[in-house]
Amino acid sequence: RKIAVFASGSGSNFQAIVDAVVAGELQADIQLLVCDKPGAKVVDRARKHGIPVFTFLPKTFASKADFEKEIVSELQAYGVEFIVLAGYMRLIGEVLLGAYEGRIVNIHPSYLPAFPGKNAVGQALEANVAETGVTVHYVDSGMDTGPIIEQVKIPVLPGDTETTLQERIQKAEHQLYPAIINKLVQKDIVGGIVQ
Ligand code: GRF
Repeated sequence: RKIAVFASGSGSNFQAIVDAVVAGELQADIQLLVCDKPGAKVVDRARKHGIPVFTFLPKTFASKADFEKEIVSELQAYGVEFIVLAGYMRLIGEVLLGAYEGRIVNIHPSYLPAFPGKNAVGQALEANVAETGVTVHYVDSGMDTGPIIEQVKIPVLPGDTETTLQERIQKAEHQLYPAIINKLVQKDIVGGIVQ
């Protein structure tokens, strides 16, 4: 199965996905990294592994539809079938959804529907909850609102800071995400339906 990963930042989840492919635990071909921040660390990670990168600067386009059209044509040129969001810090618009709805998944660092949006780890600490989590879900037009595929709970420990809680959450993400992606692509599950 041909997949693309979208990311904007450090790319530790991207790295976990690459490592799982290399280890033979995730049977997928990463065709392309799509990145809206050309200087992001994730771009270096992709280059190191010889994975093609499509970077773009959103502000140089007149609209989201315009840059998404360009992304879709790149994805189609590479024959991409599934899109994996891994820290891609933008809402997906109607052009990408029109082409790939049901085939786009995201990972979010909370037990959704709690703490959607930015800084979910900080939000959980602020709320003083005893546990938070990680959620993998299909992507729709909302902010972390699509149908949930899988979730795990993560305890918040006394004395946790954003750094320590984030570390615990990311460890779980790096285990969970490649395994779920493998399930979805092997069984060709689209929007929850086995094709
Ligand atoms: C992850 O915590 C993910 O849940 C969220 O963005 C973060 C990306 O981190 N959507 P990284 O770039 O994969 O290290």
